[in-house]
Amino acid sequence: MKRLSVFLAFVLAIFAYACGGSGDTSSAGKPAPKSMIDDPVADDGKGVGEIKEVSLNSPLKPGMVEKGKAIYEMKCAACHKLSDQRVVGPGWKGVTERRKPEWIMNMTTNVDIMLEKDPAAQALLKECLVRMPNQNLSIGDARDVLEFMYANDGHEVGN
Ligand code: HEC
Repeated sequence: MKRLSVFLAFVLAIFAYACGGSGDTSSAGKPAPKSMIDDPVADDGKGVGEIKEVSLNSPLKPGMVEKGKAIYEMKCAACHKLSDQRVVGPGWKGVTERRKPEWIMNMTTNVDIMLEKDPAAQALLKECLVRMPNQNLSIGDARDVLEFMYANDGHEVGN
């Protein structure tokens, strides 16, 4: 009888330990298993997409600024003002100071993936509640729009 109760106590102790253990691991603060974390790369502020490095012009190239402005008026002006006022999307004033040029070009050429993976783009989506639609800009178009954004932020335009 004594041996049985010692044995029972031992079994109960194991159960208690096992339950405590599994209770702990299923608690809320548990980190997700590795397989559920996708692309755990450090955020370098350049966004997600094929634009890795942009070289800027100083002074800006007037032809590019012109083309960028025309694209803006045709495809972007409905949602973006040139002031800091938000309409559907954020106003563009100061955007070149808030964001790296690579981020801006990835946002304009790869918006769906950016909204899915880039933390800054996701934060904007939370604020604006509207997904920016893909505008089908070529990389060249996006570069011209970027030139126009720098002009809008007061950078000097050459002749
Ligand atoms: C239908 C509305 C709409 C149009 C058209 C649109 N956008 Fe957007 N844009 C948004 C919204 C909304 C956001 C904020 C992110 C989100 O919610 O998807 C945004 C965000 C951005 C941002 C980031 C701004 C910041 O402050 O960081 C850039 C850059 C941008 N858009 C560029 C463009 C360009 C370039 C065009 C035109 C080729 C364009 N957008 C056309 C709605 C639009």
